[in-house]
Amino acid sequence: MAIKFEFSEKTAVITGAAKGIGAAIAKMFAESGANVVIVDMDVENGEKMASKLEEKGVKTLFRKVDISDENAVDAFSKEILDKFKKIEILVNCAGIGPKDIGPPFSKISSDDVKRVFNVNTVGMLNMCRSFYGNFYAQKSGKIINISSIAAFLQVPMMPQYGASKAATISFSNSLAKEMGSFNVNVNCVNPGFINTDIYSDALDFKKAVPGAFEDCSTSQQVVEKMASGSALKRTQSPEDIAFAVLFLASDEAKNITGQCLNVDSGIVYR
Ligand SMILES: NC(=O)c1ccc[n+]([C@@H]2O[C@H](COP(=O)([O-])OP(=O)(O)OC[C@H]3O[C@@H](n4cnc5c(N)ncnc54)[C@H](O)[C@@H]3O)[C@@H](O)[C@H]2O)c1
Repeated sequence: MAIKFEFSEKTAVITGAAKGIGAAIAKMFAESGANVVIVDMDVENGEKMASKLEEKGVKTLFRKVDISDENAVDAFSKEILDKFKKIEILVNCAGIGPKDIGPPFSKISSDDVKRVFNVNTVGMLNMCRSFYGNFYAQKSGKIINISSIAAFLQVPMMPQYGASKAATISFSNSLAKEMGSFNVNVNCVNPGFINTDIYSDALDFKKAVPGAFEDCSTSQQVVEKMASGSALKRTQSPEDIAFAVLFLASDEAKNITGQCLNVDSGIVYR
């Protein structure tokens, strides 16, 4: 029997889906029959992505929402639930990373630290809290949070990034225990190293971690260098992450909750 992911009649809300990993996840859901709601700050790419996905014959919608703004998230969830009545899948992928983190940790302000947590951690919490009632009422659903293997690694010069991602894993595990009582699965997928816009300015990244990437002149080289210590010695693609997300959102994964799936070619072993 051929196994194919099938999400017809289901609606997936995906944050950070205007580009990068989130866009690959949105595309794969649309190709598997799901209606897709794209949430992002990037209007140009978000709208483009929504019209591209519509060609696949599913309902799509783009909304500009800053996930760190709880009032904006609440207004958004109300609008979406009015429109779609319920959502079955929530993927929290929006995040900021190396290029938005700025100079090394010792030189940043507490506001810089808060900025990272406000998007990567609080933003994810805002989305989960805002759709909690939807999941409680329908007594089913899947939440997949994109964290990072940085949660488990030592990330000198930018410990605030790893800490913001570790917090999302702890949060997801507690939520899995709580929401399991009404048949909702909550899991994390942790990407390894993928050359998306999050690393788009290799020079900024080199500034954040001085000395580590002297021999690299492009973001691709930076990412390859980081992935060179993995068992399989290769970087990942956004689609690698999307496959893991679709599996966790499928009925076949109904007994998996409170887990982290590292998609990193073998860097983190836990
Ligand atoms: N690329 C990697 O190597 C890697 C590794 C581990 C984890 N991750 C995680 O994967 C996720 C996706 O990253 P990516 O590599 O696709 O990066 P990306 O920069 O290509 O995409 C991130 C998206 O999030 C959006 N976003 C940022 N702040 C937002 C906000 N406040 N509200 C709404 N949208 C916002 C951006 O506009 C962007 O479209 C992030 O959470 C990142 O931390 C990436």
